[in-house]
Amino acid sequence: MNTVLNIAHRGASAYCPENTMAAFKRGLELGATAIETDAQMTSDGHLVLIHDEWLTRTTGLNKLVKDVTLEELRRLDAGSWFDPAFAGEKVPTLAELLELAKSAGIQVNVELKNGIVLYPRIEEAVIEEIRRHGMADRVILSSFNHYSLAKCKQLAPDIRTGILYMEGLYEPWEYASRIQAEALHAYHYAVLPEWVAQAAERGVVYHPFTVNEPAEMRRLLKAGVAGIITDYPDRLGELLKEGED
Ligand code: G3P
Ligand code: MG
Repeated sequence: MNTVLNIAHRGASAYCPENTMAAFKRGLELGATAIETDAQMTSDGHLVLIHDEWLTRTTGLNKLVKDVTLEELRRLDAGSWFDPAFAGEKVPTLAELLELAKSAGIQVNVELKNGIVLYPRIEEAVIEEIRRHGMADRVILSSFNHYSLAKCKQLAPDIRTGILYMEGLYEPWEYASRIQAEALHAYHYAVLPEWVAQAAERGVVYHPFTVNEPAEMRRLLKAGVAGIITDYPDRLGELLKEGED
């Protein structure tokens, strides 16, 4: 069996409104073996899954996630912006996704959104939720805020971390070793086969994002990446099956 992770970006976000239970479930149906999602906190400290700091684009409410309570947030429609067929989809909690992933036997990549808005103690809260669900061995924490990742590793050395970055970092596997990250979540153009090999020597794997074109998926699979983050888990699933034949 192919062990390359098929990571559905915000769920199967090409087909369903991103970061909703509909998108996560569709991801599973389309063959994803992991779900990537974005975690933020409400004003009353609940962990919720939404990409933008502002609620405007996906719910129409012109407020920041950090300024609404969970109750207010749950009244919003996070599906209609994508297609009226998804009217009534809610902004999910991290707990809901962890329950789904646990019962389906898949992994979760929780991206801590801790940049534009800073959420003090989001690391503690996310780790506590993961432990409550017994999912420490099935979660990869990632973030563009590498201080957050270093803190996660100090708090929970047993939970894997992945460094998110866009640029051509110089020898990122050295940097990863420094904060004990197991994975490089690199923008996909910043991944060359020789780098994948050098990272592997350090025990560091690549999970590039966000890869939607089959030709680019093929290039990365050939380079030896350990997983790919995609809006189209069905396309990646097809390629992974081919590799088994
Ligand atoms: O985790 C990969 C990817 O989600 C990072 O960027 O902006 O889509 O959260 P973004
Ligand atoms: Mg993300």
